[in-house]
Amino acid sequence: MTMNKEINYELPSLDAARKRNKERFVVRKDLFIIPEKARGIGHGRSYYLRTYGCQANVRDSENIAGILEELGYEAVSELDKADLILLNTCAVRQNAEEKVLGEIGNLKKLKRANPELLIGLCGCMAQEEGIVKTILQKYPQVDLIFGTHNIYHLPELLYRAMLEKERVVEVFSKRGEIIEDLPSRRFTPFKAWVNIMYGCDKFCSYCIVPYTRGQERSRAMEDILDEVKDLIKDGYKEVCLLGQNVNAYGKDLGMTEGFALLLEAVAKTGIKRIRFMTSHPYNFTDEAVKVLGKYDNIMPYIHLPLQSGSDAILRKMNRRYTASEYKELFDKLKKTIPNCAFTTDIIVGFPNESDEDFKATLEMVDYCQYDNAFTFIYSKREGTPAAKMEDAISYETKEQRLAILNEKVAYYAHKANERFLGQVVEVLVDGPSKKDHSIFAGYSKENKLVNFKGEGVQIGDIVKVKIEKTKSFSLDGRLLKG
Ligand code: SAH
Ligand code: SF4
Ligand code: F3S
Repeated sequence: MTMNKEINYELPSLDAARKRNKERFVVRKDLFIIPEKARGIGHGRSYYLRTYGCQANVRDSENIAGILEELGYEAVSELDKADLILLNTCAVRQNAEEKVLGEIGNLKKLKRANPELLIGLCGCMAQEEGIVKTILQKYPQVDLIFGTHNIYHLPELLYRAMLEKERVVEVFSKRGEIIEDLPSRRFTPFKAWVNIMYGCDKFCSYCIVPYTRGQERSRAMEDILDEVKDLIKDGYKEVCLLGQNVNAYGKDLGMTEGFALLLEAVAKTGIKRIRFMTSHPYNFTDEAVKVLGKYDNIMPYIHLPLQSGSDAILRKMNRRYTASEYKELFDKLKKTIPNCAFTTDIIVGFPNESDEDFKATLEMVDYCQYDNAFTFIYSKREGTPAAKMEDAISYETKEQRLAILNEKVAYYAHKANERFLGQVVEVLVDGPSKKDHSIFAGYSKENKLVNFKGEGVQIGDIVKVKIEKTKSFSLDGRLLKG
């Protein structure tokens, strides 16, 4: 047996990942195979899989878990019980990466205690040149690195890492394919993530995602509808349609109203609840707005990232809309969808963001009065255009801006929840609350977390709850009978 731990590298390249072309994507339904030699390599072994980042990663983890279980592995929830530890990582901000590197540092002890333990890193960090170099140099405890485009290859890669004792690195930097035949083990009953497209072509100047996830590519509508119909048969009540920019669905297939058509078709399957994430304001068409207003099973909740309220900053971010265009879309949605809840993403401290720019963001928050907002301090991502921009703003100023913004966000979040006091909302039950088992938790149509007292309630039920108390980020209530 060879003990050479330095062979078989296929390393990432941000330059290659940047390339785009107009050719149609290959849809593969025959790519996933378990080679003879790798069959059953997981029997009697356990895995621990930790997921960081967005829903695209969660869905990938469901595929990874599905593959591992086909190989015979069993899931465990404690690190020190696992024979295989996989970290499915996020690269969107530096602090996300630091968390993962810290975690790998901690795993050194486990590896020392059990040299047979395999440690793997996958997901978006694996697509970054700099990170992979660092890991190869400084973290010898990592045995396996693979990227977002080659999950289907996991049986072969695991075999090599485990039985040939190689240090295996395989990351493809390409636009990507559509792979339809991966096994999957869904993590939640009743609610399912459904990819409608992969990748991103927007190239917002601060963002690493177009490099880690490849070119925008839409799944065929029949494949998506088949998946939704199968989910209905399996008792699922809710689907969340996933894409970095769902409103661009179908553009690569030559459709101009692809998302509107798809939404309508999914609504007509009769599934109880439909959500979607994420919407980029630039591609939100009037037709899509119309469909949202037309079907009761499309939930009245939209995540509409703003990023900044300043036109100058939006331009530098390459967001392709102005503040007034955003407002116009927001007003249209609000008018068309009664009681719609809105959340957003905002970045403060983009390179050279002035006080005036920041004020414009605060004004937008006052205008839209979001139900909630995810707020971030700009984080420099090597290889993106913004990383080369000059920035004279101190980190302290950025932190102060974040605090001011968060205070405003919390104020409107509380205010938005007050409108539910005394109202009856429909809740899809997730289960007993983590803190108190006599209380149930679930989400309303507007995506509000609702905790309520009640009896005879099952996970997956859709029940009516009367709201008796409102908090900033949740609602408390009582189950209504019948
Ligand atoms: N595709 C989605 C979101 C992807 S990342 C969209 O376009 O909305 C989620 C959020 O992270 C972004 O909306 C943005 O607010 C934030 N983000 C992305 N890159 C960032 C960076 N370099 N620094 C700080 N925040 C960032
Ligand atoms: Fe990143 Fe912009 Fe694409 Fe969202 S739309 S993933 S922020 S590049
Ligand atoms: Fe993070 Fe990758 Fe999602 S960078 S936000 S896990 S697409």
